[in-house]
Amino acid sequence: MLKIQNIAVLTSGGDSPGMNACIRSVTRSAIYHGIGVYGVVDGFNGLIKNEFKSLTYHDVSNILQRGGTILGTARCKEFHESDQREIAFENLKKLNIDALIVIGGDGSFKGASIFSKEFNMPVIGIPGTIDNDINGTDYTIGFDTALNNIVQAIDKIRDTASSHHRVFLVEVMGNNSGILALNAAAASGAEEVFMPERQEDLSLFEEKIRRAIAANKSSIIVIAEGDQIGGAKEVFEHLKEKQLTEKVRVSVLGHMQRGGSPSFKDRLNATLFGEQAIVLLLQGKSNLMIGIANGKVASQNIAIAEKITTPKNMDYLKLIRKLSIY
Ligand code: F6P
Repeated sequence: MLKIQNIAVLTSGGDSPGMNACIRSVTRSAIYHGIGVYGVVDGFNGLIKNEFKSLTYHDVSNILQRGGTILGTARCKEFHESDQREIAFENLKKLNIDALIVIGGDGSFKGASIFSKEFNMPVIGIPGTIDNDINGTDYTIGFDTALNNIVQAIDKIRDTASSHHRVFLVEVMGNNSGILALNAAAASGAEEVFMPERQEDLSLFEEKIRRAIAANKSSIIVIAEGDQIGGAKEVFEHLKEKQLTEKVRVSVLGHMQRGGSPSFKDRLNATLFGEQAIVLLLQGKSNLMIGIANGKVASQNIAIAEKITTPKNMDYLKLIRKLSIY
């Protein structure tokens, strides 16, 4: 086993439920192997600004069940600049840190990978984003909790929608990906989903709305925030032009999707990933992203972590339509 004295761990990009469970697992696995742990404050910003917190066993007590990230997170433009990465490296060296664990999305991994090559610093990536839009893993930490949040919100919207026989345009997060929207729509019994990966035939959609209104029934249309038409408000504006909005309401779910206590799945996978990161570093491995492949924890070259362009479960779209008569 490789001798590693100290590691640093950071969370980067949008926070996601389960990040804390992962920080706990990284910290306690490292301590188990006699390795010191530093948490970096606010992602790559903390590396540049020299903001580190030494993490002990007890510092990560009672965090596993909490949403967000105790370390803070950010999107850091400065890390794109080589002189800033040099500063980051100097700061790591001052603390005798030999390796870096990055919990975040594909953008965070790109920066980490460049950094690793420039300074010969071992780096392991752990996918943490509610969007689940990273190539090379079937799952990212936070996706499951976000889906549960969305499904619960839609259940509540359905109560009021069916009481008033209304059509709801429910906008969900996902950045430029429709993966959250597609999965949430299938699991919540939505009648339709709009996602960026598909061009919609708006005349067919208008027909659906007309049929739902004529039937005096509720209808839920899930709209990904990155949809080609725009979000739910833009779709509403389109329907307004067709004088179709009397029974239509918009609900933008927003950041509540990203909050709350992580689900069982997010806690467990985050814990497995954290431990695996330390095992890989001790084996002398670097530039890997941990993920789930064929239902198991696996690791791949971090370079594979590009954005997914086509969701795996596009067939859910057919299912959603099959189960709706509108
Ligand atoms: O990437 C995670 C995510 O929640 C996206 O789904 C969303 O587009 C974005 O972050 C929102 O970012 P911000 O926190 O900057 O509003």
